[in-house]
Amino acid sequence: MQANKEHENKLEEMLVARNVTKTFVSHKKVITAMENVNLTIHKGEFVSLLGPSGCGKSTFLRLVAGLDPKTEGELLLHNDPIVGAGKDRGVVFQQYSLLPWMHAWENVAFALKNVDELSKAQKKEKAYHYLDLVGLKGFENSYPAQLSGGMQQRVAIARALVFHPSLLLMDEPFGALDAQTRREMQDLVMKVWSEEKCSVLFVTHDVDEAIYLSDRVYIMSAHPGKIAKELTIEIPKPRDFNDQLSIEFLEYKRAIISELERQKSLKKLSNG
Ligand SMILES: Nc1ncnc2c1ncn2[C@@H]1O[C@H](COP(=O)(O)OP(=O)(O)OP(=O)(O)O)[C@@H](O)[C@H]1O
Ligand SMILES: [Mg+2]
Repeated sequence: MQANKEHENKLEEMLVARNVTKTFVSHKKVITAMENVNLTIHKGEFVSLLGPSGCGKSTFLRLVAGLDPKTEGELLLHNDPIVGAGKDRGVVFQQYSLLPWMHAWENVAFALKNVDELSKAQKKEKAYHYLDLVGLKGFENSYPAQLSGGMQQRVAIARALVFHPSLLLMDEPFGALDAQTRREMQDLVMKVWSEEKCSVLFVTHDVDEAIYLSDRVYIMSAHPGKIAKELTIEIPKPRDFNDQLSIEFLEYKRAIISELERQKSLKKLSNG
């Protein structure tokens, strides 16, 4: 019975996109950034979005974050249309975008600036809690310039978590980091995901990263992007680095890379 309940919870829909299209008008030209995107993220699920550069991944993430409005289609979070940014979503971008004149803890607490119910001491306590969660205990009073790239991104993750969001949105969050730091950050995200029990929408170019972290992967076609393929990654979690050397992992990698290559050749054909 308990197991059934857990199964039901796991399949509860959190984010639903139906035929979502976004167009921009630039210099009197209409640009379709992404077209008829259909996808679902369930409660507690880790989902990655992969696709060629310019296919509309960041655009889609910004629509879900409520930073830009969609042009057409239906975009629902907990069954309600997304109409703007909200505390139920935390966002991490590739650039850390920390305020250089503020200490690490102040950068995290800054997200709470409009929360009147919390005293300054409570905001500080929350900031310290999330900095601890991302492994920055002892660095609360450092300025961004005194922290490495990986550490700055940890601060940005702590800031995104401070409202305990049900959906964490990450747009190539480790794109600027070296390979070693990137691996550490992937394990950190796994830990955060399992402890915070949030859903994650993770945009990346890195096929290994997508397989390693995700329950499901969506692959988009080239500009203007649509969902071309969906893949469930059935490698049990928690995963570790050894999983990346398994035959199963390599089979997923082969399937994803061949789909990305297929999309590339379709694009070449359509360009004539
Ligand atoms: N504000 C904007 N105004 C006009 N066009 C835009 C705007 N934002 C994005 N676009 C266009 O929409 C398309 C999709 O861009 P987007 O940044 O979402 O791609 P992406 O998949 O995230 O690419 P990358 O992998 O390189 O980050 C591109 O053609 C881009 O030029
Ligand atoms: Mg992008």
